[in-house]
Amino acid sequence: EQINKGKYEHYMQKEIHEQPESLTTTMRGRLIRAGSCKPKTVLLGGLKDHLKTIRRSRRIVFVGCGTSYNAALAARSIVEELSGIPVTMEIASDLVDRQGPIYREDTAVFVSQSGETADTLLALEYALENGALCVGITNTVGSAIARLTHCGVHINAGCEIGVASTKAYTSQIVVMAMLALAIGADTLSNQARREAIIDGLFYLPRKVKAVLKLDEEMKDLAKLLIAEQSLLVFGRGYNYASALEGALKVKEVALMHSEGILAGEMKHGPLALVDENLPIVVIATRDSCFSKQQSVIQQLHARKGRLIVMCTEGDKASVSVGGSSRVIEVPQVVDCLQPVINVVPLQLLAYHLTVLRGYNVDQPRNLAKSVTTQ
Ligand code: AGP
Repeated sequence: EQINKGKYEHYMQKEIHEQPESLTTTMRGRLIRAGSCKPKTVLLGGLKDHLKTIRRSRRIVFVGCGTSYNAALAARSIVEELSGIPVTMEIASDLVDRQGPIYREDTAVFVSQSGETADTLLALEYALENGALCVGITNTVGSAIARLTHCGVHINAGCEIGVASTKAYTSQIVVMAMLALAIGADTLSNQARREAIIDGLFYLPRKVKAVLKLDEEMKDLAKLLIAEQSLLVFGRGYNYASALEGALKVKEVALMHSEGILAGEMKHGPLALVDENLPIVVIATRDSCFSKQQSVIQQLHARKGRLIVMCTEGDKASVSVGGSSRVIEVPQVVDCLQPVINVVPLQLLAYHLTVLRGYNVDQPRNLAKSVTTQ
């Protein structure tokens, strides 16, 4: 049943729309919200014997490629916040090219949907040689990465067929949020924050269901953008990863140049690209970066930027600039889980752009689902 398209025309479309269910499966049996007097907590069976070692690590190193790297980036700050351990990010091929420093005191976390990506596997072999504790986060039981790591967590998102990863991305973020909760579980000062995130996880599938209602709106937006050469996506904080991932989806399936940009870097180069023709998505949902993103919107508007702003429901007036901008309103969730919501309209946009431009949605040219060669 999992591998037919059901009522959908394409696997990517099906996989986008099944995210409320895939997220539920990812969290099944792992969120403990029992009894009002008991603290809410998470249970990650595959890590329980290694949590003490992870807590003693000097550094956590996230390693992945493409979408899996973006998922780790989305989770980076919540892992830092709840664990108190510095987190560094490594694109697998770059770590291997540089033979970058990896130490015995490091926990290296390998994120991969397939569990078979050659670059990630090579980075894993390298980290094992250097004595790091290696943790696997994969969607494929029995895959090479699942087998070779010391411990790990399966994301249980179900089989993903479309070359463009969608449901695995959101499940990876959720698993890494749960990883942050598990590492930080012995810190009393974080308890209220951890419980708020656990509540957020609990309600997340129904919020994703709500954001999927934007399907028609994103199709209309795709019609507007069908003939464009390029699309920029600005994000920051938790949603820098959403900008990278949204742009990756657009370029890999819709075959349109697209770039995810850290909004804090806007003035250091990208601003030169802005004119009245180039469409720019600005992610400006509510979090500690909101007022900075409002200022980015003003600055882009002052350069006549053609803006599409993603904001929190009810915030349309706070992000609208003149009559020129288009606004996408999304449901609000706890800040560190907001990337799970914000990526969905961008996945839908990439999907509809691809169909409207007449390209192959599930098998984009030149790409393979699992990249097993270097
Ligand atoms: C995702 O849409 C891409 N097809 C690609 O970036 C992918 O995420 C990357 O090749 C890593 O794959 P993995 O998660 O199976 O390791």
